[in-house]
Amino acid sequence: MPAEFIPVPPFDLVILGGTGDLAARKLLPALYHRDRDGQLSEDSRIIGVSRRDYSDNDYVQWVSEALAEHLDERIPDDEVWQRFVARLGYQSVDVSSNTGWSGLAEKLGSEPGGRVRVFYLATTPQLYGSIAGALAERGLATDSARIVLEKPVGFDENSARAINDAVGAVFDESRIFRIDHYLGKEAVQNLLALRFGNSIFEPVWNRNHIDHVQITVAEDLGVDTRLDFYEQTGALRDMVQNHMLQLLCLVAMEPPASLNHDDIRNEKMKVLRALRPVTPDNASKVTVRGRYSAGMIDGNPVPAYGDEAGPDRELSAETFVAIKAELDSWRWRDTPFYLRTGKRMPRKSSKIVFQFKPVPHSIFGEQPLDPNTLTLTLQPEEGVNLKLMTKDPGPGGFRMTSVPLNLSFSDEFDVRYPDSYERLLMEVLRGNPALFMRRDEVEGAWQWIDQIASAWQDSRQHVQSYMAGSWGPPDAFLLIDRDGRRWQDE
Ligand code: BG6
Repeated sequence: MPAEFIPVPPFDLVILGGTGDLAARKLLPALYHRDRDGQLSEDSRIIGVSRRDYSDNDYVQWVSEALAEHLDERIPDDEVWQRFVARLGYQSVDVSSNTGWSGLAEKLGSEPGGRVRVFYLATTPQLYGSIAGALAERGLATDSARIVLEKPVGFDENSARAINDAVGAVFDESRIFRIDHYLGKEAVQNLLALRFGNSIFEPVWNRNHIDHVQITVAEDLGVDTRLDFYEQTGALRDMVQNHMLQLLCLVAMEPPASLNHDDIRNEKMKVLRALRPVTPDNASKVTVRGRYSAGMIDGNPVPAYGDEAGPDRELSAETFVAIKAELDSWRWRDTPFYLRTGKRMPRKSSKIVFQFKPVPHSIFGEQPLDPNTLTLTLQPEEGVNLKLMTKDPGPGGFRMTSVPLNLSFSDEFDVRYPDSYERLLMEVLRGNPALFMRRDEVEGAWQWIDQIASAWQDSRQHVQSYMAGSWGPPDAFLLIDRDGRRWQDE
């Protein structure tokens, strides 16, 4: 049996926000897949909680519809499906009026009796503190219970601290699992495998050999129905504070002593501390904010950000951010990390590109030599590509050309790649926090983000428009051109 299919201990998993978008799109499909692969024990239960006045049967119906829409295959009406459905239960709870908790207590029973009890908070973060408080008050937060916090944990450092304090008053740190689903992605784990499982990279993984690094997380999707959420967060808080900074940390950190959770998290923390602050004086030079206007993606017209809300709605959020991030550390001093993320870009594409320094002296006369690049593609297809200079075959002297050494993981490994939530949920149930963010990491990331947000405010940095289907506003190109470099979009 592959290691990842080792069954997890029996559990009661309570999903608060059980009829929400995340439950429908990610959590329930992930649990179904793990069940199908035999990882969930017979008597494990999944209890959806939300304000809706549903019976258990109504919830089963809702889950069936959600899975029919979001599973990447048809749900077969077989033994697996019957087993999955039998796990489902529902309890209506209204957190704001603090009602319904006794029904949940009844459903769970007074003692977990050796079962793992997990509360998954897929609600707005404003409710995290009061939910933790209510769980404590009703005696539901037993000594061994765990709590999972979806991102974003807060909207700035202060609100993150308030949430961490409130949740931390009920659950100790080892039982709090703060999710950043990028940490569960196969390709992100592979980054660790590549870096620390091969001896050829480490000697060149530093300022002496790497000219700069580019981290791009581009999406073709727009904000669509999430306008209200996006107006509160913008791409800086939605994407950079967590996913982009986590990628940066894994790329830039010193080698940890082991895969042990605190070994890795201690190293990531040092990277966050080394981030050079963005100030009102340099913000317009090292950051760019953009918002998509109407355009074309894949030959289809797409509307501008917020179009559906009508012309009277005032818009403030950015859907694109580019940042030249610098680390004040021995390893990375003067090797910038260009970060770029945006909605409604030409295609979904996440990659990390390492551009190496040019050769110190060319023996090939006037012929241009492209610098070596190592590209890790995270999605949609995972792979590694190393560009090398070689000789064009044939007579006529040395004609140099750049060729790729390509490895596509899907061609190499014929397996289904589990969604990151499948892995992360199983890690919570096993009680392994390595793939989750520690309190100081979340707060440290917010510190840097808060500086950028207030630099934008103080310097009145405006949001530039970019056409949907393009790679961002003109200043995003200037940001890197100014340093004599360019984005690698191929
Ligand atoms: C989420 C953001 O955390 O990540 C979304 O809130 C974004 O705005 C999503 O679309 C991207 O995730 P993925 O796995 O599709 O790259």
